[in-house]
Amino acid sequence: MTSPVIVKAEFSLNCLLVAAFFTIASSHLSAAGTSSPRERLLLDSGWKFHLGNEWGFAQNRAKAGTGSGPASKSYSDASWRTVNLPHDWAVELPFNQGADAGHGFKPVGPGFAANNVAWYRRTFELPKEDAGKRIGLEFDGVFRNCEVFVNGWFVGHQESGYSSFRYDITDVANPGGKNVVAVKVDASQFEGWFYEGTGIYRHVWLVTTAPLAIAPDGLFVYSKFKNNVPEGPAEIHIQTRLLNSQTNAVHAVVKCEIIAPGGKSVAKFTKSETVDGASHQELNLDARVSGPVLWSPESPSLYQLVTTVESDGNVVDCQETPFGIRTVAFNVEKGFLLNGKPYELKGTCNHQDHAGVGAALPDGLQYFRVAKLKEMGCNAIRTSHNPPTPELLEACDRLGMLIMDESRLLGSDEENLRRWKGQIQRDRNHPSVAIWSLANEEFRVQGTPAGRQVALTMQNFVKQLDPTRPVTYNAPVGNEFPGINEIIEVRGWSYHIGTNNMDAYHAAHPAQPNVGSEQGSTVGTRGIYTNDPARGYVSAYDIGATAWSNTAEQWWSFFAVRPWLSGGFIWTGFDYRGEPTPYGWPCINSHFGVMDTCGFPKDNFYYYQAWWTDRPVLHLLPHWNWPGHEGRDLEVWCYSNCREVELFLNGRSLGRKTMEPNSHLAWTVKYEPGTLSAKGYTDGKVIAETKVETTGDPAAVQLRPDRSTLNADGEDVSVFTVSVTDAQGRVVAVAANSIRFELSGPGKILGVGNGDPSCHEPDVFLPQFSVRSVPLNDGWRWKKLPNVDNSKLAEFKTNFDDSTWETANPQSDRGPLGERDQAVYRVKIQVTGPDLAARAVELRCGMIDEDGWVYVNGKQIGESHDWQVPAVFDLKPFLHPGENTIAVAVANWGEQGGLNKGVLLEFQEKAVAPEWQRSVFNGLAQIIIQSTREPGEIKLTASAEGLSPATASLPSQPCTSRPAAP
Ligand code: GAL
Repeated sequence: MTSPVIVKAEFSLNCLLVAAFFTIASSHLSAAGTSSPRERLLLDSGWKFHLGNEWGFAQNRAKAGTGSGPASKSYSDASWRTVNLPHDWAVELPFNQGADAGHGFKPVGPGFAANNVAWYRRTFELPKEDAGKRIGLEFDGVFRNCEVFVNGWFVGHQESGYSSFRYDITDVANPGGKNVVAVKVDASQFEGWFYEGTGIYRHVWLVTTAPLAIAPDGLFVYSKFKNNVPEGPAEIHIQTRLLNSQTNAVHAVVKCEIIAPGGKSVAKFTKSETVDGASHQELNLDARVSGPVLWSPESPSLYQLVTTVESDGNVVDCQETPFGIRTVAFNVEKGFLLNGKPYELKGTCNHQDHAGVGAALPDGLQYFRVAKLKEMGCNAIRTSHNPPTPELLEACDRLGMLIMDESRLLGSDEENLRRWKGQIQRDRNHPSVAIWSLANEEFRVQGTPAGRQVALTMQNFVKQLDPTRPVTYNAPVGNEFPGINEIIEVRGWSYHIGTNNMDAYHAAHPAQPNVGSEQGSTVGTRGIYTNDPARGYVSAYDIGATAWSNTAEQWWSFFAVRPWLSGGFIWTGFDYRGEPTPYGWPCINSHFGVMDTCGFPKDNFYYYQAWWTDRPVLHLLPHWNWPGHEGRDLEVWCYSNCREVELFLNGRSLGRKTMEPNSHLAWTVKYEPGTLSAKGYTDGKVIAETKVETTGDPAAVQLRPDRSTLNADGEDVSVFTVSVTDAQGRVVAVAANSIRFELSGPGKILGVGNGDPSCHEPDVFLPQFSVRSVPLNDGWRWKKLPNVDNSKLAEFKTNFDDSTWETANPQSDRGPLGERDQAVYRVKIQVTGPDLAARAVELRCGMIDEDGWVYVNGKQIGESHDWQVPAVFDLKPFLHPGENTIAVAVANWGEQGGLNKGVLLEFQEKAVAPEWQRSVFNGLAQIIIQSTREPGEIKLTASAEGLSPATASLPSQPCTSRPAAP
């Protein structure tokens, strides 16, 4: 492997960046919300998950508040697997050659009905003090088509898997008691052509406010300068939308304070207004900040806006909004301008997808990925092809990365504009967001009058909601104007490089700025240097572009010398699942990334690093383990920004060459084992050295975490690099050993990966469960009673004498109750101590026809109002060793009802923990570890047959966690 001279510096830069985030994030979070009724709790932990939908239509559309099956409040989810969000169930499924290649051969979507629908449930308590407040549930994104129920009530439906959404659940919430949110997710239909994940793959929040409060996404803060050039003081404009949920009008005082990056208060201003009952009211406030500290990717300085709302002398709301002072613009000749100066966009397009976790990225992984991109010199991300999760934007605000924020679809229909509006209102305070992108490659409509009009409507919509940012569209056409290109503010270029296209277009439309919104796109596999169609691998030399794309060197050397093109965004920064190109199965992911799915650099990483950073870069390829190739020619490439490079083989000089800007150097070398090394010169001085060596056989496993401590907040992650080395500790670039992992201490493994685009090993290992079912059809007695919907009935009590009642047969299909009959059924069961050691004990009633109420030892434990689906109740909390009594009250309204279709007791045995393993691919693998809320020492051991094992310890330290729902 090449050992670039700057590795050490990169590693510590990573650590610094990540540490900086956690300091800023926690101070910000601990300061917020302490003085007002507003509370924003993370609702990520302790969800119950079930893949499948045995309940048909769980929403009873005939009667309100009676969601059935898992949608009902008392349905037992005790046997379901517990998951923490973010969660992606597709990543847990095995690969299947019959599944959609674009989506990474995961068996979801058309043709895989059994895997397409899942349920999530979360039970939480609300304090009784919440009575009178507004309570909301916020979802950052669910893939996709979900229905949300709270306490059996349907509260909303969200179709798109990429939009954030919020439901006010005040009316149906239960302050002072238990609440259940149930989410049915239906991923039967795709939205994109790439891996999209499935499930609640972003965060969920429980938000409580006073009845008079800042509306959701109701704050917009932006800065303006004369001529859009940051000279002199910044004018700060603040739009505050208040929401008064009470029926009476109230007087509101809005107080704003601006805190500078160093913590100093630099402006305070106030405005008051009467807000009518049940209405929104917008207030505009202005301020000036002199000598502003500007935000940029190189210096991501954040101001805080603290907005306090008072009414009748009481603080009713307080919100902190981080923002940056900076300007963005496009100039026809100078290209993109940041803070008034030309700023080359060195961007990457990326999907939300990472090894081990699929689309469900914990925030720490967002930071990890942004830091990796920065290491390469990347300063901008295009969120192809959908609204990002807000946490990516937070990471970019704090670490310094520009964003092209893209919508999922072109459309001016009501629904699409509602989503577009939500995206803009949610994201417009982020200084990282620099450009809006209307859509990607709308081949069929982009050249039509309708396409032009729809795009114009979307663009005008941006201008109403955000007066500060330009708008583009990723257009896959050359020198063509009709359609969207006629109206778009900034012409976006999807490929179509070259003088006939770009230069000709620029000459024909000199007043329109340009940006390379999707460019480059070498296909290559990390550590592979010859194409191998059978295994689905592509050579990592920068030669493998597709018919529609270009190599790194082709596109960048074209763009670098044309400032008016503004730079651009490579397809892609990281490999992602799906779109295997150019080969299909067994390849299951894309090869476009400059890094693989783990974030391990391919060689092209160093091409970009050489021309996108000022640091000295010197990198050689390929690796130097070629047994059997002795005496044969090998192409040796060098990426460097040194003026000259000299290559040596086993100490012999193979010549010194001059590097042309934005290019690479190459030598043809007769292979012999040993050391291939290089010296990089600038101004005659050696400024960098590197080497690749022929290694010995695999001898040991090594583990290297990306940080030295974790925060014990149940969220923080550490990404471990797993490598197989020879006896001298050098990574064996061709190793493929299978590694087993064991973890002890307060942490858990989230996933494993290795960046091999054709690897079908699991990314996730799940616990195994077993179930013991005991039929409970004997011993039942029943009696008709006039009104059983009364929890005080003596017939439900343990010691009630039912010996004179008739025996019942719950295995019948229907009866014995006639129309409007009601009855109580009773049975006694014996339970042992070992029975109660089960993970869950559930009562499964095949059919309760129609309304039912279930009592255990005299206590009501649940109810059922849908005769069409089995009713399942969680018994374990109510049972004791020895004799227990179960009573089921049934009210039948139509013909022939009762307790029917069999009753079962199900004992869900304790889960068997999985054994985690993964092969290294070309010497490397990755394992992602997450902290729990317990501080302590996390110990990870990695072992492999015949190799000496490695153990790494990572302290998980006490910290202030962000507020979370218990
Ligand atoms: C582009 C498209 C991307 C991806 C890429 C593959 O045209 O915008 O989403 O499919 O092609 O090369």
